[in-house]
Amino acid sequence: MLRTHTCGELRISDVNKTVTLSGWVQVVRDKGGIIYVDLRDRYGITQLILNENSTDANAISTARTLSREFVIQATGEVVERIAKNDKIETGDIEIKVTSLEVLNPAKLPPFLIQDETDGGDDIRMKYRYLDLRRSAVRQNLQLRHKMAQQTRIYMDAQDFIEVETPVLIKSTPEGARDFVVPSRMNPGEFYALPQSPQTFKQLLMVGGFDRYYQIVKCFRDEDLRADRQPEFTQIDCEMSFVEQEDILNMFEGLIRHLFKTVKNIDMPEVPRMTYADAMRLYGNDKPDTRFGMEFVELTDLAKGKDFPVFDSAELVVAINAKGCAEYTRKQIDELTEWMKRPQIGAKGLIYVRYNADGTLKSSVDKFYSEEDLKAWAERCGAEKGDLILIVSGEANKARKQMSELRLEMGTRLGLRNPQEFKALWVLDFPLLEYGEEEDRWFAMHHPFTSPKPEDIPLLETNLGAVRANAYDMVINGTEVGGGSVRIFQRPLQQKMFEVLGFTDEEAKKQFGFLMDAFEFGAPPHAGIAFGFDRLCSIFGGADSIRDFIAFPKNNSGRDMMIDSPSTIDAKQMDELKIKTTV
Ligand code: AMO
Repeated sequence: MLRTHTCGELRISDVNKTVTLSGWVQVVRDKGGIIYVDLRDRYGITQLILNENSTDANAISTARTLSREFVIQATGEVVERIAKNDKIETGDIEIKVTSLEVLNPAKLPPFLIQDETDGGDDIRMKYRYLDLRRSAVRQNLQLRHKMAQQTRIYMDAQDFIEVETPVLIKSTPEGARDFVVPSRMNPGEFYALPQSPQTFKQLLMVGGFDRYYQIVKCFRDEDLRADRQPEFTQIDCEMSFVEQEDILNMFEGLIRHLFKTVKNIDMPEVPRMTYADAMRLYGNDKPDTRFGMEFVELTDLAKGKDFPVFDSAELVVAINAKGCAEYTRKQIDELTEWMKRPQIGAKGLIYVRYNADGTLKSSVDKFYSEEDLKAWAERCGAEKGDLILIVSGEANKARKQMSELRLEMGTRLGLRNPQEFKALWVLDFPLLEYGEEEDRWFAMHHPFTSPKPEDIPLLETNLGAVRANAYDMVINGTEVGGGSVRIFQRPLQQKMFEVLGFTDEEAKKQFGFLMDAFEFGAPPHAGIAFGFDRLCSIFGGADSIRDFIAFPKNNSGRDMMIDSPSTIDAKQMDELKIKTTV
């Protein structure tokens, strides 16, 4: 080996040892007669010292050629430092160098390889291998490694079998677009990359595997955001002979195991909430429950006082921003403008200040007496010093807008501490949602999700009211996982496809294999998949999943480092029988 120790391991007890270290030059400080080199590797930083008077002349002249990120090997004696550095673990010692070799010189890196870097996103992505040398990025990936290890330990202990499913498959409709791969041997035909291994894991249940999991890459061609990448990783799981309750317990167990082993946090039992309650109380199917500020409906109190905005509204909904009565007019105006931005689209924002002296002042004083406002405040649980913020309109829209405002106020009031973790199960999702544009019903989760047995008759009468045996796990307002009890009988699966507007023929062509399998003894089964990148970023206290992925793509889906996607040459196009009009 080109080293006897790493740059993070030597301590005062190693003094007098002769050691060889290899690594990258973090910084060189030439103080005339004495040269200091900070040598870095994955494990830490160790200081090398060379003295013109006592160190070999070759080593001195080599040291004078060094610059940042050179790869070097140094041999010398461990000595106690005179000026200790308590900021690094090796800070009690340094290496008195006897020989020094440059293993590979380096060009000046385009940004500082330190915790606080001067590199912007694009440049760090282009030189991702340099970014990976920064301890902040490396720690994220180490966390990811630990999470994967602990997932495997838990799943193995619960008798799950890890099975790999194929990557070149046929489209699985999860709601996003597929990435497709042309088949040279079958001209004009395409594979699709899996949006998830959904159908395969169900077939594994038919195959008797009983408990399956996989830490698996999934691919979705959708618009990207901080918590979305075109290729991402799931902890994908499925179980046979279980009911929803069994899945909730098993996977709550996984999350608690991860919190305990990775972060030493004892996560309490995960509370549960129905989708309907989540929408009513938070206007959001993935509420951030680190803070309260639940919605309070004022519709009945607000109507009938000749204020046209409220009179014509389906819903008048409020939140109580505790302690914000002191907000200035300017602050409220700014918040109102924030709500009116096209991304949120509110027409306005109404407020009631519950002043410290007990008086109430609102932006709608013309229509409402202090008595009226008191009744609102009471319902909101508001006290002196609080500020009530109100939005109205069509119920779904108003809830969505209010949800954004609630999150924003939570952030402004410092109620969303990334080191505090609040998990939640959201249950009883609707089975279907209506697509206005397409004028048809879509599966809210996916077409293999089972309706609640008691709601099956509604499939004939009221599609919007059918609830699914589907569940999401939410942590700190992020959907980290979702799953469902599956349909396992052909007639119901056929019915589901019919509801989704498939003709018999289309259903057979796309999913005949699954429906056939259901006729050969399919066990009742259910499952879930966690977004592994999201879980890691939440554990790491970060918003973006990018820094928890070794080689992520940017917001246009590009890998800036290898410069992909890219065109392919004409010969490849010919072989694939692809004609282009571009
Ligand atoms: P679903 O589509 O809800 O369910 O996905 C499961 C979880 O995967 C994560 N996720 C993503 N993470 C990063 N980037 C993306 N583009 C992305 N898309 C999804 C989310 C999500 O909760 N087959 C079903 C699971 C099942 O029914 O068992 C499925 O894929 O955290």
